[in-house]
Amino acid sequence: MEIAVVGSNMVDLITYTNNLPKAGETLEAPDFAIGCGGKGANQAVAAARLGAKVMMVSKVGDDLFAPNTLANLQQQGVDTRYVTTAPGTSSGVAPIFVDDRSQNRILIVKGANQQLKPADIDAAAEDLKACRLLILQLEIPLETVYYTIDFARQHNIQVILNPAPAVPELDIHYACQCDFFMPNETELEILTGMPVESDEQVRLAGKSLLQRGLKNLVITLGSRGSLWMQGDEVHFVAPTPVNAIDTSGAGDAYIGCFARMLLKTGDIKQAMQYASAYAACSVTGRGTQCSYPDADSFQRFLNVN
Ligand code: RIB
Repeated sequence: MEIAVVGSNMVDLITYTNNLPKAGETLEAPDFAIGCGGKGANQAVAAARLGAKVMMVSKVGDDLFAPNTLANLQQQGVDTRYVTTAPGTSSGVAPIFVDDRSQNRILIVKGANQQLKPADIDAAAEDLKACRLLILQLEIPLETVYYTIDFARQHNIQVILNPAPAVPELDIHYACQCDFFMPNETELEILTGMPVESDEQVRLAGKSLLQRGLKNLVITLGSRGSLWMQGDEVHFVAPTPVNAIDTSGAGDAYIGCFARMLLKTGDIKQAMQYASAYAACSVTGRGTQCSYPDADSFQRFLNVN
């Protein structure tokens, strides 16, 4: 395998609406869709659709969602030998609300993802050691995230840490062990306590994180593009302009594509360029994973954008 994602899978319950009910109120929403999601699974699927050999270490619940989650990952070409069942738990679920400006608001119920433990890393150790890159997010216990980072360092494997959803108690010592730290602007704001409205504010917040010892900081800014900061260097990638329909999972599309292209080209700027376009392409369709193009459709998108 080239890439291992140690992370979450969720069932996305997506409601398309502009209005959320107040306490005691019932509101009708115009549309709903169910899909396979979870930041870990989304990133794994994006990389796999683009041709990477990807394995996942993850937990599904002991419920009717689990067989569908496994079948979906397998259909996308993700190796699921280490996606195991947490007895007596529900699968992770994510109620998502998308408004008519294509912005999303996401709640997560971690469910089985909370049961992904260091012992699961040990169980997958031989296959993980053969990977070139590990990708982590924060929808699993922090203990497991830290254990995986230590494992990767011991075995000289590159690590991407996507601190999503952001938790202020994240131990920066571990973030500094990772090759790439990839928050979005909201996560950057939570992690630094600094404003991120303007480009200048984003750079200042990024700098404050870098000063704590991060190696490479890649900040995804949605329709504002993305930024790579390393030492005193700053590289900006402009967004690909598209007519966005649903931005859910766009950050995950970016990271999955970045991982694939980083391994393929060895060039961070090129990987960002592709990732930015891939995320843009994903927001032109509804849902999370189901909006991710495969390599051929992505090439067609690149030809005209
Ligand atoms: O980043 C988008 C993802 O966040 C959704 O698929 C949802 O499951 C939550 O994990």
